[in-house]
Amino acid sequence: MSDQHHSSEVGRPDDDGGAMNLPERFENPGLEPHRHRLGDSDPKIAKRSERQIVFIFLISVLASIGGLVGYFLIPVDEPNVLNVRLSTLVLGLGLGLGMLGIGVAAVQWARALMDDTEKIEDRHPMSAGSAVQQQAFEMLRDGAKEANVARRPVLKGAVGGALALAPLVYLVPLIGNLGADWDISKFAHTAWRPVRGGDPEMYYQGQFRYLALDPQDTRIRAADVTNNNIVHVIPRGLPEQEHYLEEKAKAVVLLVRVDPALLKESPERASWSYDGIVAYSKICTHVGCPVALYEQQTHHLLCPCHQSTFDITDAAKVVFGPAKRALPQLPIAVDEEGYLYATADFDEPVGPSYWQRER
Ligand code: FES
Repeated sequence: MSDQHHSSEVGRPDDDGGAMNLPERFENPGLEPHRHRLGDSDPKIAKRSERQIVFIFLISVLASIGGLVGYFLIPVDEPNVLNVRLSTLVLGLGLGLGMLGIGVAAVQWARALMDDTEKIEDRHPMSAGSAVQQQAFEMLRDGAKEANVARRPVLKGAVGGALALAPLVYLVPLIGNLGADWDISKFAHTAWRPVRGGDPEMYYQGQFRYLALDPQDTRIRAADVTNNNIVHVIPRGLPEQEHYLEEKAKAVVLLVRVDPALLKESPERASWSYDGIVAYSKICTHVGCPVALYEQQTHHLLCPCHQSTFDITDAAKVVFGPAKRALPQLPIAVDEEGYLYATADFDEPVGPSYWQRER
């Protein structure tokens, strides 16, 4: 590069056809003089900033504790929507304020107490040699030293407490919702399971659960299930049962009547339908959405979430979409008065595949 280039002002035509007197390189203007914060020279102000930060961390701690207390105090077992909403609100606020408090306090800490001296780092090749790594390590160490954590034990306690408690608002409900019961075999059963000595209003011969309309909870006569109509079904008496919503989520069933000649039934399942009426789990085997759309012409059930399609004339096998397994079938029969009941529980767990399944 010639001297002329260094010193010259390069002539580039401007809009008027004249020359713009721009230098080829601009001088590095350097940094403005560092402006010290009040807290840098006045320990009282630094102390006040520290108290503010501790206060914000304290808000985070209280919010996290509030979320945890709310989780334990607000019962959501009963089918009470208000309680569920309140619990969700308290958990959300606890988690949100807990995390927000940590974030705001960290920003304020960096602004008010950490070293804010401007530093310049020249550009360098992208590869990080050992010298650079060593430099990075030293920078980290200097940063930790500049944060003055060791000299501020209260602040150290506050940040430690906030960081330790905030994740609990998320983790405790997650683990707690297992109800301290790690026996997952119960997921394999539903409210259709036959019992002994059941209420005759709910159980045929005190043993087999009647099918009932959802949500009316009235028994269903086979004669009332007309061709190609879809009926949403729950076990009779389920709304009065403990853990109603959880049980309903597993036990909901779709009932459809088709021409019996269309059904391709394996010999083992020949007795699972009644006069063309078949009952299948309503829970999609992909990720568990309710399968609620019925195509009368093709006899396909369609899941609206990702369009998995099941053929109810052929054991509800998957004919399209991401689901890998057929919908579980509920074996049904009718009593002397023509009411439908389940002769057994589903022969496999309903809903999405999980780790204990082969697929
Ligand atoms: Fe039914 Fe995905 S949940 S297709």
